[in-house]
Amino acid sequence: MSRIRDLARPHIAELEPYPPGKPIEELERELGVRDSIKLASNESAFGPSPQVVRAIQEVAAGVHRYPDGSCFYLRQAVAKALGVEEGQLLFGCGSDEILEILVKTFLGPGEEAVFPWPSFAMYPIVTRGMGGVAVSVPLDAELRPDVEALAAAVTERTRLLFLANPNNPTGTSIGAADFQKLLERLPEQVLVVCDEAYREYVRRSDFPDSLAALARRPTMVVLRTFSKVYGLAGLRIGFAVGDPELVGLLERARHPFNVSSLAQAAALAALGDREHVARAITLNASGLKQLEEGFRELGLRFAPSDANFVLVRVGEGASRVYEGLLQRGVITRPLGAFGLHEHLRVTVGLPTENERFLKALREVWDG
Ligand SMILES: Cc1ncc(COP(=O)(O)O)c(C=O)c1O
Repeated sequence: MSRIRDLARPHIAELEPYPPGKPIEELERELGVRDSIKLASNESAFGPSPQVVRAIQEVAAGVHRYPDGSCFYLRQAVAKALGVEEGQLLFGCGSDEILEILVKTFLGPGEEAVFPWPSFAMYPIVTRGMGGVAVSVPLDAELRPDVEALAAAVTERTRLLFLANPNNPTGTSIGAADFQKLLERLPEQVLVVCDEAYREYVRRSDFPDSLAALARRPTMVVLRTFSKVYGLAGLRIGFAVGDPELVGLLERARHPFNVSSLAQAAALAALGDREHVARAITLNASGLKQLEEGFRELGLRFAPSDANFVLVRVGEGASRVYEGLLQRGVITRPLGAFGLHEHLRVTVGLPTENERFLKALREVWDG
C-alpha cells in the first residue's frame, strides 16, 4: 500500500500546517512563570462589551437548535450600520473562512493569487490549499504594500489580489491615492480582496473609502471582522461586502450554518455598543503611543501602525529578545517565518500590560 501521505492531493500534502500556539497555562507551566500576558495574536486587550456577554448568556440555552443560516437580524444591522444593501453581505466563520470561500469560488488549479509579502499568513495557505499559485510581492522600503509592483505582478492567469489594509504583520497602510492607483492598474477580471480587519483602528485621515469604491468596481470585496475591535475573536465571525451578484456566487460555496447562533447574537450586541468600540479605539491609540515612546527611549525603530499592534525592529538578536520576554511572562510574536528576522510584532495591551512589556524589554535589552 502507498504511504498515507501519497493518498492526499499533493497541494494539500505540501502545505505547512498552521502552527497553533500553546494554551497560555501550558506555556506558564513549561517556563515556570505566572500571570503572563499575551500580546501575540492581535486580539482586543479590552475584551467584549458586557452587552455581548449578556447576549451570549441569553441564547446559550438554545444551542440545541441550528443557527439562522441567513444571519437575518445581524444582516439587517450591519447593512444599516454600513449603509449597504443586505444582499451585499456574506457572513463567515471569521474572515478566514471567507478567504477560503473566495478561492473556492474564483481560483482554479494553476491560477494565480497575488498579494504583498509579508502579509497575512492565510493568503498563501488558502491559495495553495486550492491548488492555486501564490504570487508574493515584496513590500516597499517603508514596509507598505507596493502598489506599482503589485499591479506589475498581475498576469492573464491572475484571478485574485489580496490586500490587507492596514497590513498584518507590519501595521502599515496605503492611502486613498495609492489605493485608487492600484484599482486603475488592475484589469477588471482580477477580483480585489480588500481585507480591512483593522479598519476601525486606522489613524491616518486619507484612508481609502473602499465601500464607496465598490460602486465603481464590481470585482472587489471588502472584508471586515468582529475579531479585533469588537473583541469576538473566540467566536469566529466576519463578513464580506460586495456586488450582490458576486456575493450570490459566494453564498453558493459556503456551508449553510457557517456562523454559530452565539456568534450572531454576540456580533449584533457588539455592533450596538458604540461606546465600547469608541473606548477600545481610544485606548488602542494611547497604548500605541505608550509603546512608541518606550521604543524611542530605547532607540528602537518601529513601523507606523494603523492597527492594534506594532512592528518593532530589535535587530539580529530578535529570537534572544523574544525568549527573554517569554521568560518574563510576556508573549510577543517573532516573525522569522515571514522573513522579518530582526523584528517582533507586539499587540497593544492594557496600559499596565504595555508597561510590563516595556519593562521586560528594557531588562532584556540591558542584559
Ligand atoms: C489581515 C487579517 N485578515 C484577517 C484576519 C482573520 O480574522 P478572523 O478572525 O475574522 O478570521 C486577520 C487576523 O489576524 C488578519 O490579520
